[in-house]
Amino acid sequence: MSANVIPIVDQRAASPVPVIPAHTHDPNGTLADTRGRSLRDLRISVTDRCNFRCTYCMPKDVFDKDYQFLPKNDLLSFEEIARMTRLFVGHGVEKIRLTGGEPLLRKHLDVLVGMLALIKTHDGSPLDIALTTNATLLAKQAHALKAAGLNRVTVSLDSLDEATFRAMNDVDYPVTDVLKGIDAAHDAGFASIKINMVVKKGVNDQDVVAMARYFKGSGHIVRFIEFMDVGSSNGWRMNDVVSSTDIVRMISSEMPLIQVQSNYTGEVAQRWAYADGSGEIGVISSVTQAFCATCTRARISTDGKLYTCLFAQSGHDLRALMRAGYSDKDITGAIGLVWGQRDDHYSEMRTEATAGIQKVEMSYIGG
Ligand code: GTP
Ligand code: 5AD
Ligand code: SF4
Ligand code: SF4
Repeated sequence: MSANVIPIVDQRAASPVPVIPAHTHDPNGTLADTRGRSLRDLRISVTDRCNFRCTYCMPKDVFDKDYQFLPKNDLLSFEEIARMTRLFVGHGVEKIRLTGGEPLLRKHLDVLVGMLALIKTHDGSPLDIALTTNATLLAKQAHALKAAGLNRVTVSLDSLDEATFRAMNDVDYPVTDVLKGIDAAHDAGFASIKINMVVKKGVNDQDVVAMARYFKGSGHIVRFIEFMDVGSSNGWRMNDVVSSTDIVRMISSEMPLIQVQSNYTGEVAQRWAYADGSGEIGVISSVTQAFCATCTRARISTDGKLYTCLFAQSGHDLRALMRAGYSDKDITGAIGLVWGQRDDHYSEMRTEATAGIQKVEMSYIGG
């Protein structure tokens, strides 16, 4: 392990089994946490493994050949994920995002998508099912995923410059193959694909404008994300962050941008449209303009623990309840109790000091 990498404590173990309330009411979708935030968005990590070693997410020094990924039995089965989803939908969830690790490494993911596509929201509408992927396996799977009912795809791509991208994914993976994956998804019928670029100062900020220019007019939407202190292993410092304000300024000086309204309350990205009408970009300002006040997101880790914040130190072991044979009503009650007590607002409190707190890894709870 190199000197600049902080050794991590295994936070995965720190997840008590939630309490089942003595009296439960049928959920009606109006559940709120202590800050009045409802539960609308469920992000599910389907695998903690990834074929990339992005330096900001799964640094090689930590996620090396000795790293203990979860054994197969610990993973939620597709049936357990579908059941979990149904219970959360009972509480008002309308959107599911499949993440990881790299979700397409999970075998037969299209089968899971097909199971989720059968679940209806409170008002009888289908769920909005989205996927975040590094696109390495997308060309092979895009058609099956579309046919199974996947609605939207988001691709992570941090630079169009070969050397920079290869260094950031740290497995020497070429840009051209990611672009092929994006094209294949487009051909399979996914419209307005989102491209996520995490911007780290001195690493890929010189590639911001080129990224915007490349996708301008393509119908796809690039989102520039402020580098965050997720997990405990990426060595985050405030100095590494390029603010969204600076990103918008850089792009706008060459291709003028106008801010546009959010698509929905609580949308993570701020939208900026090109003044010439050739599409839009997004900026995600989790560091410089925290959006905790409208955070309606819950996360389920690969092994079925509920995390109420991306920066949580511990979760709530719902899988233990499922495998102990508790009823839907009991587990629904337990989820309601956890959410009702939620007070998370980490991004509003972040400092260089909090960045050092031991948190769970993003590959395990899902981006
Ligand atoms: P849409 O449904 O398309 O609006 O997706 P989204 O923007 O919610 O999802 P996406 O997964 O693409 O989010 C993009 C990035 O924003 C993530 O990879 C994170 O870097 C960041 N992000 C998403 N949710 C949160 C959150 O709850 N807290 C913080 N701090 N960052 C988040
Ligand atoms: N900061 C910001 N975003 C991150 N992601 C992973 N690690 C970080 C980080 N340290 C997000 C990126 C990527 C997705 C899988 O997770 O958006 O596209
Ligand atoms: Fe893998 Fe995505 Fe993390 Fe990169 S950011 S290591 S592609 S999970
Ligand atoms: Fe939500 Fe936590 Fe992110 Fe704030 S820091 S937006 S509470 S996940």
